[in-house]
Amino acid sequence: MAEIEKKPVKITETILRDAHQSLIATRMTTEQMLPIVDKMDKVGYHAVECWGGATFDASLRFLHEDPWDRLRKFRDGFKNTKLQMLFRGQNILGYRPYADDVVEYFVQKSAANGIDIIRIFDCMNDIRNLQTAVTAANKEKAHAQVAMSYTLGDAYTLEYWMDLAKRIEDMGANSICVKDMAGLLVPYQATELVTALKEAVSIPIEMHTHYTSGVGGMTYLKSVEAGADIIDTAMSPFAMGTSQPATEVMVETFKGTPYDTGLDQNLLAEIADYFRPIRDEALESGLLNPKNMGVNIKTLLYQVPGGMLSNLTNQLKEQGAEDKFYEVLEEVPRVRKDLGEPPLVTPSSQIVGTQAVFNVLMGERYKMATKETKDVLSGKYGATAKPFNPEVQKKVIGENAEVITCRPADLIPNELDTLRKECEQWIQQDEDVLTYALFPQVATDYFKYRQAQQTKVDAKVADTEDGAYPV
Ligand code: CO
Repeated sequence: MAEIEKKPVKITETILRDAHQSLIATRMTTEQMLPIVDKMDKVGYHAVECWGGATFDASLRFLHEDPWDRLRKFRDGFKNTKLQMLFRGQNILGYRPYADDVVEYFVQKSAANGIDIIRIFDCMNDIRNLQTAVTAANKEKAHAQVAMSYTLGDAYTLEYWMDLAKRIEDMGANSICVKDMAGLLVPYQATELVTALKEAVSIPIEMHTHYTSGVGGMTYLKSVEAGADIIDTAMSPFAMGTSQPATEVMVETFKGTPYDTGLDQNLLAEIADYFRPIRDEALESGLLNPKNMGVNIKTLLYQVPGGMLSNLTNQLKEQGAEDKFYEVLEEVPRVRKDLGEPPLVTPSSQIVGTQAVFNVLMGERYKMATKETKDVLSGKYGATAKPFNPEVQKKVIGENAEVITCRPADLIPNELDTLRKECEQWIQQDEDVLTYALFPQVATDYFKYRQAQQTKVDAKVADTEDGAYPV
């Protein structure tokens, strides 16, 4: 009997990015992460996803941390492991499309500060929104991975995914990720999808799912059997629920098979021991909502990704309307359909989610439309797989409003110089202009905080000096 060729599956660890973004609203601090970096660096992960996505915004807004500083600390600590970030195509790490010069500069600085793999996606799967970032990553000699935002719907056939994958390979991507934000990809569908993708392209295929609907581990098993090269997992204390399947579980699953990862369970157990108290603390403080931890089979009905579920819970809590949770969840697919049935992933998930909240709380659909809803219906986020609901489009942007059909960024003039002037007084490092570009208000607040801290430290030093050398 011919022996099956060995093909170890590679593991990308997500605990420093997606796992805590999905379970505890991205609140893990750099200080909580750094002590374990050295051990994590010894595991032999394919990569550690540790930056981008919502971490940038959350560091600044809630933790008063400079995200660039966090990245540099990771780079110092991870000497043998590739660092991966999540990048929202033309939206970078923000919530609107940016001019090409900002996208290019952000990619350049991410690579310069230590990122090896840039996972780039577009919430509409409009590849025109990916080209600038992919070309920039190629130029920086970073690994450009393009993620297809996985979703369900009439438009999303196997042919759709194969065609998209081919175009991604042709545009210069080094690998493809199937990004299943909501855990919608079920095991036997995964077999079909991965088999088809393997036929369509020759670059590596990475699978990214969330455990939300409870099938994640099985989906990975079938994906790997069908030829997937890499899977994204999270260390068990921050695994499952709206996060990824557990690293240790997947490692054990493939042990002794041709797909054996070769990772050391004892070392993984030590890493899990480190993160468990952080999880317990988050549970105690209420940061980790038990609602996001179990299996939520309704995700298959509402197709809502993990991060979006916890955001909706928070949004409704703030409005004192927690009782409307399921009503809003039911409104989500309706709004999605009106907006051309895009995948639900940042920023489309926020746009659809917020509009769904408005529709429910106002008691009338589209009585109030957000600016972002207007922009989507004006084509500013790119082309959707299905047409918009013409009635809704008319109600929201008016009968004779202009609708964009070109690559949206073609209409955005370069903005880096203007942005630099706007935040001139705060700039202490090159990267500050990018921070400001993404979140002008939050960045300014952070810059003020940073300055105040520095003044405090200076004053302290002066005090000490006065004490040591009395005048
Ligand atoms: Co994810």
